[in-house]
Amino acid sequence: MCGIVGYIGPKQAQGILVEGLRKLEYRGYDSAGLAVYNGETLGVCKAEGRLSELERRLSRQSLPGQLGIGHTRWATHGKPSDENAHPHMDMAQRFAVVHNGIIENYLELKEELLAKGCSFRSETDTEVVAHLLADQWDGDLVSTVRKAVRRMRGAYALAIISEFEPDKLVAVRLASPLIVGVGDGENFIASDIPAILEHTRDFYVLEDGEMAVITRDDVRLMKTDGEPVERETLRVDWDIVTAEKGGYDHFMLKEIHEQPRAIRDTLTGRVKGGQADLSREIALSPEELREIERIHFVACGTAYHAGLVGKYVIEELVRIPVEVDVASEYRYRNPILTPRTLVVVVSQSGETADTLAALREAKKAGSRVLAITNVVGSTVAREADDVFITQAGPEIAVASTKAYTSQLIAIYLLGLYLAWIRGTRSEAELAEVVKHLEGLPELAERTLQLEGAVRLLAAEIAKKEDLFYIGRGLDYAVALEGSLKLKEITYIHSEAYTAGELKHGTLALIEEGVPVIALATQTALYDKMVSNIEEVKARGARVLGIALEGDEELHKLADEVLTIPRTLSLLTPVLTVIPLQLLAYHACVARGYDVDKPRNLAKSVTVE
Ligand code: F6R
Repeated sequence: MCGIVGYIGPKQAQGILVEGLRKLEYRGYDSAGLAVYNGETLGVCKAEGRLSELERRLSRQSLPGQLGIGHTRWATHGKPSDENAHPHMDMAQRFAVVHNGIIENYLELKEELLAKGCSFRSETDTEVVAHLLADQWDGDLVSTVRKAVRRMRGAYALAIISEFEPDKLVAVRLASPLIVGVGDGENFIASDIPAILEHTRDFYVLEDGEMAVITRDDVRLMKTDGEPVERETLRVDWDIVTAEKGGYDHFMLKEIHEQPRAIRDTLTGRVKGGQADLSREIALSPEELREIERIHFVACGTAYHAGLVGKYVIEELVRIPVEVDVASEYRYRNPILTPRTLVVVVSQSGETADTLAALREAKKAGSRVLAITNVVGSTVAREADDVFITQAGPEIAVASTKAYTSQLIAIYLLGLYLAWIRGTRSEAELAEVVKHLEGLPELAERTLQLEGAVRLLAAEIAKKEDLFYIGRGLDYAVALEGSLKLKEITYIHSEAYTAGELKHGTLALIEEGVPVIALATQTALYDKMVSNIEEVKARGARVLGIALEGDEELHKLADEVLTIPRTLSLLTPVLTVIPLQLLAYHACVARGYDVDKPRNLAKSVTVE
């Protein structure tokens, strides 16, 4: 969480930093701030609240200068406030620091610095870094930063400037993402690529334990112990337009509508001769793939829900036992891992701290790790043994949509590839699934046409405070995702249940008028699902059914029905989720909340 940006060059830094922060606001928006060197001193402006608040202040008191750093905050230590906003400075205001991560031993350092006479202005862990730099100052910025970093434990992406050496910007990374953008006579740093993509397409991705010393004309990479690092730059060919709203009111809506394209692009190049072929993604030989005894999906939030779909899909196609874990549990539960376990970590950002820790646990135990991620060069992508890059394109809205459906496509391809290599299904059967998979972009297009009907239903849902989602099998996995989407952006309480479980407790909550969204797309479970819908109807629930086109029965039973195009039951999650995403979106708009930046959340959760 938190986004950081930095600039050094011939232009005025303020505008570049503010625009960078605008693109990083998805990482946190509790406060924002800048520090810019004005030729003599470091000028600072910061403000609690959204970036617009900082901009308002800057319009009254601008920060001239060509070297600067900026920060957008997701509060961890200390409430959102002006004082706790970054950048933080030492007492003499000679060093300015922005930070993403957590300095775990900050209390110990703080006590030591207090004893030396430092006084602190904020409640943050970051402020200790600024004081520590002043305390360790030895006349050389790079060596001072290295000494300070040696004292710190935890996770950090830091950007540091000092009036002592105003020709440079120093950046350090440990367990929080940081990239350096290489320009012509100017250079940049940022937490992610889109923040500075309008200025350059060439980047260095810093690794853990590395730092960059950046001047206008030069970028020097080194380990924090001083050992030089040689690295090629990464050239990024995303179109900047794909990272903009493109005429939609919100990024989330744009991203929902991009799903047919994202699905198509994620499939491209991964089907050969009618079969899924991941030989470019997975370096394991067919013999090694045949030796895998179990698969673990490990992820957080929406990506975890994609993993739940993965369990059904892989067990169905490959008949290998699959476990699915939330990464924050997995990393501490001492999972049974062997060299014959394939651990699949799923992460849109590739930077989620818990997912990364789970990946490291799995590697330490000697298991093979496959990452499914949307971000080339992300930490997860770099550390996994094998990487499947989904082609969703940059996802900006905090609520994940196109990344989820792209993750599902990756998981289907994985299941089909393993089934093919291991011979658990005939080639003809697999080719049939692949054919339907390739038909999904068009069916997703058709599903998006439900938007008008969903908008009307959303206006009603927006007035409710409690809601239930029910489903069986794959529909249950999608119900969990639909419920999460609604909660995170509309703040309506909702819960997802396996429909058969209701009568074991939750049915007590169903009374006259309680909305229940019932997913009934799984043909083999359809009759059971109808019985469960009868049960909630009998208690007065108002049921919105999600069914397959041509389903007459549900129309008789439910109050409202939305139908999705028919495909194989195994593949319906890709379509079923679309009306649920649209429902959450339009209910949020109806409630008047900020769609793309829901309260308390951030897009990339780089703290534990
Ligand atoms: C919800 C959402 C989150 C993320 C979760 C994992 O809409 O986006 O639940 O799915 O924080 O993030 P990644 O996939 O980046 O690891």
